[in-house]
Amino acid sequence: MLEKISHLIQEIEAELIDSAEKAEQFRLKYLSKKGILNDLFEEFKTIANEQKKEVGKHLNILKQKAQEKFDLAKENLENSVNTEELNIDVTLPGEPFSIGSHHPISIVRREIIDVFSRIGFTVAEGPEIEDDWHNFTSLNFPPDHPARDMQDTFFIEDEIALRTHTSSIQIRVMENQKPPIRILAPGRVYRNEAISARAHCFFHQIEGLYIDENVSFADLKQTLLYFAKEMFGEETNIRLRPSYFPFTEPSAEMDVSCPFCKGKGCNICKGSGWVEILGCGMVDPNVLENCSIDSKKYTGYAFGMGIERISMLKYQVKDLRLFSENDLRFLNQFKSVL
Ligand code: PHE
Repeated sequence: MLEKISHLIQEIEAELIDSAEKAEQFRLKYLSKKGILNDLFEEFKTIANEQKKEVGKHLNILKQKAQEKFDLAKENLENSVNTEELNIDVTLPGEPFSIGSHHPISIVRREIIDVFSRIGFTVAEGPEIEDDWHNFTSLNFPPDHPARDMQDTFFIEDEIALRTHTSSIQIRVMENQKPPIRILAPGRVYRNEAISARAHCFFHQIEGLYIDENVSFADLKQTLLYFAKEMFGEETNIRLRPSYFPFTEPSAEMDVSCPFCKGKGCNICKGSGWVEILGCGMVDPNVLENCSIDSKKYTGYAFGMGIERISMLKYQVKDLRLFSENDLRFLNQFKSVL
């Protein structure tokens, strides 16, 4: 009987079931009440008791194989579509499926990185959950500075918060690298602000940092002029207004000539001909020393800009909330932009 069983296993394995009729034939031949397997099970009852264990085992294997073969073939037959019956021309070209688009923030971030990478800047990153040292203290924020206040900062624990700016990445880089340093640090930042067309509780910044011997304010100005022209067009002008940041001295805010009215005055620049796009300055010697960089030997500049702000200018977006609402009517408009 064992021989018969092994012979049958081979036979079943060799069976080809490629149509519903063949499946039915298979079922009748092996699995039905009048099929071969049932006969074998009848025969099994008559064999000597000491053979039952061994033969029974093989008999069960055979049964399992036959059933599996049948089930699999049936499943395959059900899933396969008969194209002739459905009258489909499978040689026709397929329907084009719609591809997605990059988010405007990603498009502008890449463009900014691209402009600066052409003059030697590389990208650095840092964590969004920051400690007080990297977000504030090392950047020269006095202990009672209002930016540390609960109203501006999302605190997680006592000394741990969501970073309020990408300047924290400056510190992380300076702590770990020796000058010359020339990095660009993009990232999401968080501030506890009421959400409106002009403010959000999270947005994106790009920070720039350059540290070397003899870096001057003139280098900063020239770099930013190059950036403004690459970003907004060759005819763009810049102006620097004195400002204050704890971590730069001197500090400035930079305006570009309004890309829409070319400086004549329009509703986007509110008639002034200028729009503010970033904060910058020479890295405060205290900040260098906090990162164990010799401030007598090295100087450097830093700048930071909001990516949303640049995107709003570039694409004339009037409401900041559009960038985070995932409204396809808005996002689809960026399909053609790389
Ligand atoms: N971190 C500043 C801000 O968030 C911007 C800035 C960066 C200013 C670097 C000067 C130098 O407003």
